[in-house]
Amino acid sequence: MDTTSLHTRPWSRRLRGALDAPAHWEILDIPAGPLADAVESLPLGPYRDALRGVWLGHPLHPALVQLPLGCWMSAGLLDFTPGGRRSADVLVAAGLLTAGPAALAGWVDWARLDPPRRRTGLVHATANITGVLLYAGSLLARSRGRRVRGRVLGLAGLAAVSAGAALGGHLSYRQAAGPDRAAAVPRLAPADWVGLGPVENFPVGEPTRRMAGELAVVVVRDGERCHVLAERCAHLSGPLSEGTVADGCLRCPWHGSEFRLRDGEVVQGPATAPQPVFETRVLSGHLEVRLPGAG
Ligand code: FES
Repeated sequence: MDTTSLHTRPWSRRLRGALDAPAHWEILDIPAGPLADAVESLPLGPYRDALRGVWLGHPLHPALVQLPLGCWMSAGLLDFTPGGRRSADVLVAAGLLTAGPAALAGWVDWARLDPPRRRTGLVHATANITGVLLYAGSLLARSRGRRVRGRVLGLAGLAAVSAGAALGGHLSYRQAAGPDRAAAVPRLAPADWVGLGPVENFPVGEPTRRMAGELAVVVVRDGERCHVLAERCAHLSGPLSEGTVADGCLRCPWHGSEFRLRDGEVVQGPATAPQPVFETRVLSGHLEVRLPGAG
């Protein structure tokens, strides 16, 4: 019996190497910078955070991409099913229509990534744009009655968007571009009250880093009241103790996410998940904290 694990086989290593490779292609930084600036300057207003998925609590892009991918995969099957031609044509068109919002949400997320993830994202987007163009050609061919060409272009489009999806999955799960980086906080935080020191040691309105057991937290003193949040930003783990405080919010120094001090809710993205907030109490002038549900 072959005891070699699947993930140690040469083809598996080559596949993972291929998915990892774009993150190292520094030449992609040349177009990535101006492109990110262009995306950031789009006049999206409050729709920018809506596209990010702040209202949903996690990125919206992965949910939206199900629409075009589902349409196109179904079209691929119907193309080879007796009587399925017309439905396949409709699904190819529906995929093209729904690809727009999915792509816009993706670009908005992409613009605030760091350079290695941006490079992977750019290759992911290029594969998907190629797929969209191939599907547009497929639809055109279908409308002119050139069924074989329409099918072939559709299959080529499916291959392109599948490659894009593989890179998107790698970007999300291997390179952790979208997850809530603070999700582990309840498991890392001490289960009981833990002291952070005398209240008078915390300067008013200035974020201050402390350790609560093994977990870094940031303390913001507001008069006699102290707000305590997890130190690492839910977006990409930026150090919130180096951020700024304004209007009852703490702003991350890396990409500008703003979290309400009172409850950690996202007031401005790119973070989509709220920042964990600790309960506080003051005993004999000493600040103590605990996280409800921790441990
Ligand atoms: S790390 Fe990106 S906003 Fe905080």
